[in-house]
Amino acid sequence: MTEMRVAVAGLGTVGTGLISILSQEGADRAPKPLTVSAVSARNKTRDRGIDISDFAWFDDPIAMATSDDIDVYVELIGGEDGVAKASVEAALNAGKHVVTANKALICRHGLALAKLAEEKGVALRFEAAVAGGVPVVRGLRDGLAQTQVLGVLGVLNGTCNFILSQMDETGASFDDCLLEAQKLGFAEADPTFDIGGIDAAHKLVALTALGFDAMPTLEQVDLTGIDVVTAEDITAAGEIGMRIKLVAEAARHGDALALRVGPALIPEDERIAQTMGSDNIVIAEASPVGRVAFSGPGAGGGATATAVAADLVTIARGATGPVFAVPAGRIDGAPRVDATDTHDPYFLRMHVADEPGVLAQVTSALAEANVSVDTIHQAPTNPVADL
Ligand code: HSE
Repeated sequence: MTEMRVAVAGLGTVGTGLISILSQEGADRAPKPLTVSAVSARNKTRDRGIDISDFAWFDDPIAMATSDDIDVYVELIGGEDGVAKASVEAALNAGKHVVTANKALICRHGLALAKLAEEKGVALRFEAAVAGGVPVVRGLRDGLAQTQVLGVLGVLNGTCNFILSQMDETGASFDDCLLEAQKLGFAEADPTFDIGGIDAAHKLVALTALGFDAMPTLEQVDLTGIDVVTAEDITAAGEIGMRIKLVAEAARHGDALALRVGPALIPEDERIAQTMGSDNIVIAEASPVGRVAFSGPGAGGGATATAVAADLVTIARGATGPVFAVPAGRIDGAPRVDATDTHDPYFLRMHVADEPGVLAQVTSALAEANVSVDTIHQAPTNPVADL
C-alpha cells in the first residue's frame, strides 16, 4: 500500500478538525500518506469551512465503511447504537481498520467489537474517546502494559470541568457556562450526558477495561452529575481551600471493583484541583511504577482530532495487537462491582439558626446515624445567607 485511504463519517467539529490536520503540509509523520478519500455526513451542502469536493461522498456510512476504495473507517457519528455501531461492525467485518471517538459505543459494545476486530486481524482504536487530546488510552494499554493497575482517578469531562472552573473563577452562572462550553464545541449533542456524568462514566468504563482487564456496564458506575452543584457549594468549598471537581474513579477492592463518578472536594494544591477549563487529567496508580499522570486538553475539535490522527498514524505504522491491554478473550465481561466497600469522607454543608444547642442537635443526629464527625468549620459570618 503506497497510501492509507481514510474514510470519515461525521463532519462535526472533530471530523472537520481531522480533515484540516490531514491536509496540513509538513505535519505528516506517518510512514505513508494518510489520504482522506471519502466522507459521509447527514448534510452534504452545509458550510463547514472546509472543502470536501475532492472526496467521494456517501449518503450511507455503511456503504462507505465497506467500500473497496478505503482502508480505514473513522467513525465520528456518535451514539451507542444505530448507524455508528452498524457501520463500525460493517467495516470490521469487511476487514477495514476502524478509528472511533465514540465513548458510548466503546462503553456499551467495546468488548464485542474488540473480539470482532481481533478475529478479523484489524485495528480498532479509540484514543479520542477518552480525555480528548490526552494520550491516556495508549498510556494505559502500552506504557503501563506490564504493571498492575491499582486505581485510576481523574477528571474526564471537559464540559463539566469548564463549567465548574468558570463558576469558580468568574462567578458566572451554570447556564451561561454551559452555553459557552457548547459554543466552544466541548459539549455532547445532548449536554445532559456531560452534566449528568454519563459521558465521564462512559470514559471510566473504557479506562477500567484498559487498566483492570474488566468491562463493567455503565449501570455499574455509581453516578452523580454536576447538576447538583450550586454556586453556594463552590463558594463554600473555596472558603475551606477546596475546589469542586467531577471526579471519576476506578479502584480495586479485593476481588471487586469500585467505580464512581461524582462531584468531589479536592484540596486546591492538588493536581486534580489545578486542572482547569476544558482540560482533563487521569492519574493511574500502578505497581511497581507508582503514580503516573496524563493531562491536557480534554475536549474540542482540535484536541480530539489530534487523537484520531495519532491513531491513524499508529495504524499506518502497522501496529496491531489487542484493542485493550490484553486480548478481548481475556477481559472479564461481567466483573463484580461493589461501591459500598469504600470509606470516604463526606462534606455536609448546612445553614442553621444561630441558637444555643443547634450544633449539639446536628452532631447527635449524625451520631444516631453512625456518622463520625472529623472536622467542623463554622464561618463567623455567612457570605451566602443573603443570597
Ligand atoms: N463532551 C465531552 C467533554 C467531549 O466535554 O469532555 C470530549 O469527549
